[in-house]
Amino acid sequence: MLHQNIKESTMPAHQKVEGIIVRQLKAVRSEADYAEVLKGFYAYFKAVEEAIAPYITTDVLPDLAERRNSSYIKRDIEELGGTIDNLPLATAPQVNNVLEALSALYVLEGSIMGGPYIVQMLNKYGIHRGTSFFSGYGEDSGKMWAGFTAVLNQHGADESTFAHAAEIANETFYNFGEVFASVTSEN
Ligand code: HEM
Repeated sequence: MLHQNIKESTMPAHQKVEGIIVRQLKAVRSEADYAEVLKGFYAYFKAVEEAIAPYITTDVLPDLAERRNSSYIKRDIEELGGTIDNLPLATAPQVNNVLEALSALYVLEGSIMGGPYIVQMLNKYGIHRGTSFFSGYGEDSGKMWAGFTAVLNQHGADESTFAHAAEIANETFYNFGEVFASVTSEN
C-alpha cells in the first residue's frame, strides 16, 4: 500500500524536520517567539494548500471542509497578538495531478501526529495560547488520519507510482525545512 511505502521512504526526511522544529521550539522564550515559528508554518502550509487546491476537491477528499488548514495557524498567530505580515519565504513543491497533491498533503496531514508533542513542549515553556493548530483533531485525530490514508491508498493503488509519490512527499518535507533555514540565517 502506498501509505506504508511513503511512510518508510520519508522517515529520514521526517526525522530531519522534527529536529528542525524541536530546535525552533526550544528557542521559544515568549509568545512573540512562538508566533514567529507559527509564521513559518503559516507561510508554508498556505503555499502548499494553494498548490494542491486544484486537485484536492471534495470528490477526492469528501471531508475536506472538516480538515485543519492554515486558517487555524493565522488564528493562533492573531491570538498571540501577531500578524501575518512579513512572512518568511516558502516554496511549495510543484504538483500536477491528484496523486502528487495527495503526496504533498500527506506531509501536512501527518504533521498533526506530532501536534500533541509540540503542545506539550510549548506548555513546558509557559505557552498556553495559540495552540489550536497543533491540537489537530483532538480525539478524532486517529480517525481523520485513517480516512486520509485510505484516500491516499485508493489513488495510489498502482505500485509503479510509489517512488514518484515518495519523491513529492520528500520534497514537501525538505522545502518545509528550508523555510526555517532562512529564518535562522536572518536572525
Ligand atoms: C516536534 C515535532 C514533531 C514530532 C515530535 C513529531 C512526531 C511524530 C510522531 C510520534 C509520529 C507517529 C505517530 C504515530 O504513528 O502514531 C509522527 C508522524 C508523522 N509526522 Fe511528525 N512530528 C513532528 C513534526 C512534524 C512535522 C513538522 C511534519 C510535517 C511538516 C510531520 C509529519 C509527519 C507525518 C507525515 C507523519 C505520518 C507518518 C505516517 O505515515 O504514519 N511531523 N510524527
